[in-house]
Amino acid sequence: MSLNNQVEKTVKVYPNNESASIYVAQRIALLINQKKIQGEKLILGLATGSTPKLVYRELIRLHRYEGLSFRHVVTFNLDEYYPMQPVDEQSYSAFMNANLFDHVDILSENIHIPNGTLSMEQVEAHCDLYEKKIKDFGGLDLQLLGIGRTGHIGFNEPGSELHSATRLVTLNDITIEDAIMDFGSRERVPKQAITMGIKTITQAKEIILLALSQRKAEIIHQALEGMISAGVPATYLQQFKNVEYVLDQEAASRLTR
Ligand code: F6R
Repeated sequence: MSLNNQVEKTVKVYPNNESASIYVAQRIALLINQKKIQGEKLILGLATGSTPKLVYRELIRLHRYEGLSFRHVVTFNLDEYYPMQPVDEQSYSAFMNANLFDHVDILSENIHIPNGTLSMEQVEAHCDLYEKKIKDFGGLDLQLLGIGRTGHIGFNEPGSELHSATRLVTLNDITIEDAIMDFGSRERVPKQAITMGIKTITQAKEIILLALSQRKAEIIHQALEGMISAGVPATYLQQFKNVEYVLDQEAASRLTR
Protein backbone atom coordinates (compact mmCIF):
# COMPACT_ATOMS: atom_id res chain seq x y z
CA MET A 1 0.00 0.00 0.00
CA SER A 2 1.32 3.46 -0.73
CA LEU A 3 0.80 6.85 0.80
CA ASN A 4 -2.87 7.73 0.90
CA ASN A 5 -4.46 11.16 0.53
CA GLN A 6 -5.28 11.42 4.19
CA VAL A 7 -1.62 11.12 5.10
CA GLU A 8 -0.63 13.69 2.52
CA LYS A 9 -3.05 16.15 4.07
CA THR A 10 -1.58 15.75 7.53
CA VAL A 11 2.08 16.43 6.84
CA LYS A 12 3.15 19.82 8.17
CA VAL A 13 6.59 21.09 7.25
CA TYR A 14 8.12 23.94 9.27
CA PRO A 15 11.21 25.99 8.38
CA ASN A 16 13.19 24.79 11.40
CA ASN A 17 13.14 22.61 14.53
CA GLU A 18 12.07 25.49 16.74
CA SER A 19 8.95 26.46 14.77
CA ALA A 20 7.91 22.79 14.41
CA SER A 21 8.34 22.23 18.15
CA ILE A 22 6.43 25.37 19.09
CA TYR A 23 3.53 24.23 16.91
CA VAL A 24 3.44 20.85 18.71
CA ALA A 25 3.62 22.49 22.15
CA GLN A 26 0.77 24.81 21.23
CA ARG A 27 -1.35 21.85 20.09
CA ILE A 28 -0.76 20.14 23.43
CA ALA A 29 -1.53 23.36 25.35
CA LEU A 30 -4.76 23.81 23.41
CA LEU A 31 -5.88 20.27 24.24
CA ILE A 32 -5.01 20.74 27.92
CA ASN A 33 -7.12 23.89 28.02
CA GLN A 34 -10.02 22.38 26.06
CA LYS A 35 -10.17 19.46 28.47
CA LYS A 36 -9.98 21.83 31.43
CA ILE A 37 -13.02 23.75 30.16
CA GLN A 38 -14.88 20.42 29.89
CA GLY A 39 -13.82 19.57 33.46
CA GLU A 40 -11.79 16.61 32.19
CA LYS A 41 -8.20 15.41 32.38
CA LEU A 42 -5.97 15.21 29.31
CA ILE A 43 -4.41 11.77 28.93
CA LEU A 44 -1.12 12.47 27.22
CA GLY A 45 1.36 9.97 25.77
CA LEU A 46 4.92 11.29 25.84
CA ALA A 47 8.24 10.48 24.18
CA THR A 48 11.85 11.02 25.23
CA GLY A 49 15.05 11.52 23.20
CA SER A 50 16.39 14.61 21.52
CA THR A 51 13.32 15.26 19.35
CA PRO A 52 10.74 16.45 21.93
CA LYS A 53 13.17 18.56 23.97
CA LEU A 54 12.14 21.89 22.41
CA VAL A 55 8.47 20.93 22.73
CA TYR A 56 8.98 20.44 26.46
CA ARG A 57 10.97 23.69 26.71
CA GLU A 58 8.04 25.55 25.13
CA LEU A 59 5.51 23.82 27.43
CA ILE A 60 7.59 24.93 30.42
CA ARG A 61 7.59 28.50 29.06
CA LEU A 62 3.81 28.38 28.60
CA HIS A 63 3.48 27.15 32.19
CA ARG A 64 5.79 29.85 33.61
CA TYR A 65 4.63 32.85 31.64
CA GLU A 66 1.21 32.06 30.20
CA GLY A 67 -0.55 30.22 33.02
CA LEU A 68 -0.67 26.75 31.42
CA SER A 69 -1.38 24.25 34.19
CA PHE A 70 -0.62 20.52 34.20
CA ARG A 71 -2.72 19.74 37.30
CA HIS A 72 -5.30 17.95 35.17
CA VAL A 73 -2.83 16.20 32.87
CA VAL A 74 -2.13 12.47 33.18
CA THR A 75 0.95 11.23 31.32
CA PHE A 76 2.06 7.85 30.02
CA ASN A 77 5.55 7.59 28.59
CA LEU A 78 6.17 5.35 25.62
CA ASP A 79 9.09 3.41 26.99
CA GLU A 80 11.96 2.84 29.41
CA TYR A 81 15.21 0.93 29.10
CA TYR A 82 15.40 -2.47 30.83
CA PRO A 83 17.01 -2.92 33.21
CA MET A 84 17.12 0.67 34.42
CA GLN A 85 16.92 2.48 37.76
CA PRO A 86 14.85 5.70 37.63
CA VAL A 87 17.68 7.57 39.42
CA ASP A 88 20.18 6.69 36.66
CA GLU A 89 21.06 9.70 34.56
CA GLN A 90 20.18 7.86 31.31
CA SER A 91 16.79 6.65 32.49
CA TYR A 92 13.76 8.04 30.72
CA SER A 93 12.39 8.81 34.16
CA ALA A 94 15.33 11.14 34.86
CA PHE A 95 14.98 12.60 31.35
CA MET A 96 11.31 13.45 31.89
CA ASN A 97 11.98 15.01 35.28
CA ALA A 98 14.82 17.14 33.95
CA ASN A 99 13.13 18.16 30.72
CA LEU A 100 9.52 18.65 31.84
CA PHE A 101 8.05 17.29 35.07
CA ASP A 102 10.34 19.15 37.55
CA HIS A 103 9.40 22.45 35.92
CA VAL A 104 5.60 22.24 35.75
CA ASP A 105 2.76 21.64 38.24
CA ILE A 106 1.99 18.05 37.24
CA LEU A 107 0.95 15.79 40.14
CA SER A 108 3.41 12.94 40.67
CA GLU A 109 0.57 10.40 40.92
CA ASN A 110 -0.45 11.34 37.37
CA ILE A 111 2.95 10.39 35.87
CA HIS A 112 3.36 6.89 34.39
CA ILE A 113 6.62 5.53 33.00
CA PRO A 114 7.33 1.81 32.43
CA ASN A 115 9.30 0.41 35.35
CA GLY A 116 12.76 -0.80 34.41
CA THR A 117 13.59 -2.04 37.93
CA LEU A 118 11.41 -5.14 37.99
CA SER A 119 12.59 -8.74 37.85
CA MET A 120 12.06 -10.58 34.57
CA GLU A 121 9.18 -12.54 36.17
CA GLN A 122 7.34 -9.34 37.10
CA VAL A 123 7.60 -7.59 33.73
CA GLU A 124 4.65 -9.19 31.95
CA ALA A 125 2.15 -8.36 34.72
CA HIS A 126 3.55 -4.82 34.81
CA CYS A 127 3.03 -4.43 31.06
CA ASP A 128 -0.55 -5.70 31.33
CA LEU A 129 -1.21 -3.26 34.16
CA TYR A 130 0.24 -0.39 32.10
CA GLU A 131 -2.24 -1.20 29.33
CA LYS A 132 -5.09 -1.45 31.84
CA LYS A 133 -4.24 1.91 33.40
CA ILE A 134 -4.35 3.60 29.99
CA LYS A 135 -7.74 2.00 29.30
CA ASP A 136 -9.07 2.91 32.76
CA PHE A 137 -8.35 6.57 31.96
CA GLY A 138 -10.38 6.18 28.78
CA GLY A 139 -7.37 5.81 26.46
CA LEU A 140 -4.72 8.26 25.30
CA ASP A 141 -6.08 11.56 23.97
CA LEU A 142 -2.81 12.43 22.25
CA GLN A 143 0.38 10.44 21.71
CA LEU A 144 3.56 12.31 20.87
CA LEU A 145 6.09 10.25 18.90
CA GLY A 146 9.62 10.58 17.62
CA ILE A 147 11.06 8.14 15.09
CA GLY A 148 14.24 6.10 15.30
CA ARG A 149 16.57 5.52 12.35
CA THR A 150 15.29 1.92 12.23
CA GLY A 151 11.75 3.25 11.76
CA HIS A 152 10.84 2.40 15.35
CA ILE A 153 8.09 4.27 17.19
CA GLY A 154 8.38 3.83 20.92
CA PHE A 155 10.87 0.96 20.96
CA ASN A 156 8.84 -1.06 18.45
CA GLU A 157 11.77 -2.17 16.34
CA PRO A 158 11.57 -3.75 12.85
CA GLY A 159 9.54 -6.94 13.09
CA SER A 160 7.03 -5.51 15.57
CA GLU A 161 3.46 -6.46 14.86
CA LEU A 162 0.51 -4.16 14.32
CA HIS A 163 -1.42 -5.69 17.19
CA SER A 164 1.48 -5.54 19.69
CA ALA A 165 0.84 -4.24 23.20
CA THR A 166 3.15 -3.03 25.98
CA ARG A 167 5.95 -5.58 26.34
CA LEU A 168 9.65 -6.25 26.83
CA VAL A 169 11.62 -5.93 23.58
CA THR A 170 15.21 -6.30 22.39
CA LEU A 171 16.78 -3.17 20.94
CA ASN A 172 18.03 -3.11 17.36
CA ASP A 173 21.78 -2.65 16.78
CA ILE A 174 21.27 0.75 15.14
CA THR A 175 19.23 1.91 18.15
CA ILE A 176 22.00 0.72 20.47
CA GLU A 177 24.56 2.54 18.34
CA ASP A 178 22.50 5.74 18.55
CA ALA A 179 22.40 5.44 22.36
CA ILE A 180 26.18 5.08 22.80
CA MET A 181 26.58 8.88 23.03
CA ASP A 182 24.25 8.93 26.06
CA PHE A 183 25.72 5.89 27.80
CA GLY A 184 29.41 6.42 27.02
CA SER A 185 30.05 2.96 25.52
CA ARG A 186 28.19 0.17 23.68
CA GLU A 187 28.58 -2.17 26.69
CA ARG A 188 26.70 0.22 28.95
CA VAL A 189 23.65 0.55 26.67
CA PRO A 190 20.82 -1.74 27.92
CA LYS A 191 19.92 -4.33 25.31
CA GLN A 192 16.23 -4.36 26.17
CA ALA A 193 13.40 -1.97 26.90
CA ILE A 194 9.77 -1.95 27.93
CA THR A 195 7.67 -0.22 25.30
CA MET A 196 4.05 0.51 24.52
CA GLY A 197 3.06 -1.58 21.51
CA ILE A 198 1.96 -0.46 18.07
CA LYS A 199 -1.64 -1.19 19.06
CA THR A 200 -1.29 0.86 22.26
CA ILE A 201 0.03 3.79 20.24
CA THR A 202 -2.42 3.59 17.36
CA GLN A 203 -5.41 3.44 19.71
CA ALA A 204 -4.65 7.01 20.81
CA LYS A 205 -7.32 9.46 19.66
CA GLU A 206 -4.64 11.64 18.03
CA ILE A 207 -1.02 11.00 17.18
CA ILE A 208 1.69 13.53 16.38
CA LEU A 209 4.92 12.17 14.93
CA LEU A 210 7.63 14.82 15.20
CA ALA A 211 10.83 14.42 13.18
CA LEU A 212 13.63 16.96 13.08
CA SER A 213 16.93 17.26 11.24
CA GLN A 214 18.63 15.74 8.22
CA ARG A 215 19.35 12.56 10.24
CA LYS A 216 15.67 11.68 9.95
CA ALA A 217 15.20 12.51 6.25
CA GLU A 218 15.74 8.98 4.90
CA ILE A 219 13.57 7.21 7.48
CA ILE A 220 10.81 9.83 7.10
CA HIS A 221 10.85 9.16 3.36
CA GLN A 222 10.45 5.43 4.03
CA ALA A 223 7.86 5.89 6.79
CA LEU A 224 5.59 8.15 4.74
CA GLU A 225 6.19 7.00 1.18
CA GLY A 226 7.28 3.38 1.56
CA MET A 227 5.16 0.23 1.57
CA ILE A 228 3.50 -0.58 4.87
CA SER A 229 5.61 -3.31 6.46
CA ALA A 230 6.83 -4.61 9.80
CA GLY A 231 10.36 -3.84 8.50
CA VAL A 232 9.68 -0.13 9.10
CA PRO A 233 7.15 -0.07 11.95
CA ALA A 234 6.36 3.66 11.48
CA THR A 235 4.77 2.75 8.12
CA TYR A 236 1.87 1.22 10.09
CA LEU A 237 0.78 4.80 10.84
CA GLN A 238 -0.11 5.31 7.16
CA GLN A 239 -3.29 3.33 7.79
CA PHE A 240 -4.56 5.66 10.49
CA LYS A 241 -6.39 8.89 9.86
CA ASN A 242 -5.61 10.46 13.20
CA VAL A 243 -1.87 10.90 12.55
CA GLU A 244 -0.19 14.22 11.95
CA TYR A 245 3.43 14.31 10.83
CA VAL A 246 5.23 17.46 11.94
CA LEU A 247 8.59 17.90 10.25
CA ASP A 248 11.26 20.51 9.87
CA GLN A 249 12.49 21.22 6.37
CA GLU A 250 15.55 19.00 6.76
CA ALA A 251 13.55 15.96 7.89
CA ALA A 252 11.13 16.52 5.00
CA SER A 253 13.88 16.98 2.42
CA ARG A 254 13.59 13.47 0.91
CA LEU A 255 9.81 13.48 0.52
CA THR A 256 8.76 13.43 -3.09
CA ARG A 257 4.98 13.86 -2.94
C1 F6R B 1 11.65 7.66 22.93
C2 F6R B 1 11.21 6.80 21.85
C3 F6R B 1 11.97 6.66 20.58
C4 F6R B 1 12.54 7.97 20.07
C5 F6R B 1 13.37 7.75 18.81
C6 F6R B 1 14.01 9.03 18.30
O1 F6R B 1 10.75 7.64 24.01
O2 F6R B 1 10.22 6.15 22.01
O3 F6R B 1 11.14 6.08 19.60
O4 F6R B 1 11.48 8.86 19.80
O5 F6R B 1 14.38 6.82 19.07
O6 F6R B 1 14.97 9.45 19.21
P1 F6R B 1 15.65 10.90 19.05
O7 F6R B 1 14.56 11.89 19.27
O8 F6R B 1 16.65 10.96 20.17
O9 F6R B 1 16.23 10.95 17.69
